Amino acid sequence: MIEKKDYSLLEHNTFKIDVCAKHFVEYNSEDELIDFLQSGKLKKTFLHIGEGSNLLFLNDYQGMVLHSAIQGVEVISELDDYVLVRVGAGMSWDDFVAHCVEKLWYGAENLSLIPGEVGAAAVQNIGAYGVEIKDLIYAVETVDIMGQRKTYSVADCEYAYRYSRFKKVENKHIFITRVILKLSKIEQYHLDYGSVRKELLKHTEVDLSTVRNAIIAIREEKLPNPCHIGNGGSFFMNPIVSKLKFEELKSLYPEIPYYELSQAKYKIPAAWMIDQCGWKGKRIGDAGVYSKQALVLVNHGKATGKDIYELAEAIRSSVKNKFGVILKPEVNYIGSDSI
Ligand code: EPU
Repeated sequence: MIEKKDYSLLEHNTFKIDVCAKHFVEYNSEDELIDFLQSGKLKKTFLHIGEGSNLLFLNDYQGMVLHSAIQGVEVISELDDYVLVRVGAGMSWDDFVAHCVEKLWYGAENLSLIPGEVGAAAVQNIGAYGVEIKDLIYAVETVDIMGQRKTYSVADCEYAYRYSRFKKVENKHIFITRVILKLSKIEQYHLDYGSVRKELLKHTEVDLSTVRNAIIAIREEKLPNPCHIGNGGSFFMNPIVSKLKFEELKSLYPEIPYYELSQAKYKIPAAWMIDQCGWKGKRIGDAGVYSKQALVLVNHGKATGKDIYELAEAIRSSVKNKFGVILKPEVNYIGSDSI
C-alpha cells in the first residue's frame, strides 16, 4: 500500500498535465483496499483513477486519488472452445491483449494498443475497429466504499457506447477490482473495418499476431503516442443523431461519413466535423489538435488542463455553429466545479 500527500499526478495522466493530488493511495489487493476503506481514512472527496488516459485535470485535486495496482491473469475455467480469465483492474490493458495473443485466445486483438488499465477499460467500455470490451466481459468484481464485495454480470453493467453503470455519478463509490473476460479458443476475427483489411494485405497470412500488428500499425500511424505527446485519445464521442437530422446534414454535405445504427439513429464521426471546421493541426499556445486525427487534442508541452478545455470549447462551438450538432467529451473533466 502506498499513501502519499501532495503527490504529483504527472505520471498518472496521459495528457501530462502538471497537477498534484492532496492525497494519493495505491493498493495491491482487495484485502488492502477493504482494510483501508474500513479504517475510515478515505476522504470525503475522492477519485478512483486507472492509468489516467481519459482524464483532464483542470487544477490540483484537493481530495484523495485512489489507484489500483491489482495485477494478475488467472484462468478460472477452460473448455474446448473458450476460456474465462480473471484479470486485475490495475493491469495494463495492452499487456493483457498481448498475453491473449500469446495464449491464442481470440477476441481482444482489435483493442490492441489502447492506453489504460483493465478496470478503467471496463468502466469506459473501450472500443475500436468493430469491437467493444463489453463483447468480451463476462462479469465485473467490485468493492464499494463500505468495503462490501459484489460481482456484476455483464447484463447488470448497463453497457452502451463508451458507457457503463460505473460511469454514473451515483456509482462513483463502487470500485472495480477484477474483470472476468470470456475469450474464444476457436480462431475468429473481426475484420469489417476497411483500414484493418487494407493493412492486413501487407501480411501473407492472417493470424492473431498479424491482426494485432495490423491494429498497432494503424493506431501508430493515426494516433499520437502519449509517451511522446500528451493526449487522451478521442477527446469527444461520435454524436448520435436522428434520421431527420442526418438527412438534413446529408443533403448539405453529401460526402458526410456515417455509421447507420438501429432505431433510425446515425453516428457521425466527430473527427470529420472538426476537420471540416478547419481545426486539424491548429494550436492555441501548447494546446493543439493532432495533425493526423482531428478528434485528438494534444498537449504540446506546457498546456494546462484549462488550456485544453478552452480549445475543446472553441471546437464544440464551431461544430455547433456549422453543423448544429453538440459534441460531448469522451474525456472526463476533473477538478472544477464551474464546468
Ligand atoms: N476523419 C476525418 N478527419 C480526421 C480523422 C478522421 O475526416 O482528422 C474521418 C475519417 O475519414 C473517417 C471518420 O472520420 O471517415 C472516422 O475516423 P476514424 O476511423 O479514425 O475513427 P473515429 O470515429 O475518429 C473511433 C473511436 C476510436 C477508435 C476508432 C477506430 C470514438 C470516439 N473513437 O474514432 O477510439 O480507435 O474509431 O475504431 O468512438 C478512443 O476512444 O479514444 C479512440 C481512439
